[in-house]
Amino acid sequence: MPVNLKHRDFLKELDFTRHELQYLLDLSRDLKRAKYTGNERQRMAGKNVALIFEKASTRTRCAFEVGAFDQGAHVTYLGPSGSHIGHKESIADTAAVLAGFFDGIEFRGNAQTDVEELAEYSSVPVWNGLTDEWHPTQMLADFLTMLEHARGKVIQEVTYTYMGDARSNMGNSELVMGAIMGADVRICSPKELWPTKEVQDAAYARAEESGARIMLTEDPDEALPGSDFVMTDVWVSMGEPAEVWNDRINLLKPYQVNAAAMAKTGKDHARFLHCLPAFHDTNTVVGRDVAAKTGMDQGLEVTDEVFSSPANVAFAQAENRLHTIKAIMVATIGD
Ligand code: CP
Ligand code: NVA
Repeated sequence: MPVNLKHRDFLKELDFTRHELQYLLDLSRDLKRAKYTGNERQRMAGKNVALIFEKASTRTRCAFEVGAFDQGAHVTYLGPSGSHIGHKESIADTAAVLAGFFDGIEFRGNAQTDVEELAEYSSVPVWNGLTDEWHPTQMLADFLTMLEHARGKVIQEVTYTYMGDARSNMGNSELVMGAIMGADVRICSPKELWPTKEVQDAAYARAEESGARIMLTEDPDEALPGSDFVMTDVWVSMGEPAEVWNDRINLLKPYQVNAAAMAKTGKDHARFLHCLPAFHDTNTVVGRDVAAKTGMDQGLEVTDEVFSSPANVAFAQAENRLHTIKAIMVATIGD
């Protein structure tokens, strides 16, 4: 059956079949090639796109903006302050208003229920640019990047380990996306930071359909061997209070991606992924602050040694945010 995603929202991975997500990955690859070779055809000329960011962003915002511009569309950015959303105007009313101006709406915020509500009351597609629970646009970039570095393997033959805080957006999304796509997914984290039972159940259900292999473990020695890719995320996410840093460091120190962890994969060609931003040195305010308090001056979730090594493909992954987000827009609102 041909895939048709026109007018669809893009809210979370679980809303899509493996076939549909593979279509978006294929379209991303095609759009990337078209841009590289100067053959891009504009399929969003005359369209208008709204970008709502209740949290900070570098990559996601730039990917939506450049992706829209490349495709001939115009964007309006509504940042964490400066609009009425959530303060003086409900999400439902905002959705009804914006749908009269725009052809598509991106939303980055806190609760997944907020983006779901926006979509419910919007007559135009809504794209989730990250919530506390899910980061679905990031997953397309991660899977495109893995495919590009998989040395000829298809995604069903790829093994990856996600280390660290596994009950936030990135941990949930990496687990569920791998389950849908049929990969060998290993989540390695202390039990208190595992995805909820609901997320785990959804992943196991999708794995039954796809043939994905799923491992949740507290033991890096169990997870890492045989991994083609090792990935992690910040230990404290946007919206969490700074006071959790101490506890989080104590819990997650054994899950730092360092040279020893990479060596445990047993694969010379193992690659490192990170959605970014990353605390790999003390060149950030937070990195400096945490290093001063804990002495961890060689990086937090990933060491500078790994981050600076040829194994790191996080910048290729960041560029792929553009091609994959463009694919989502083209598929859902393109002509
Ligand atoms: N990875 C990611 O979503 O980056 P931004 O927060 O910069 O958008
Ligand atoms: N888990 C991180 C991802 C940032 C892209 C956060 O929510 O801050």
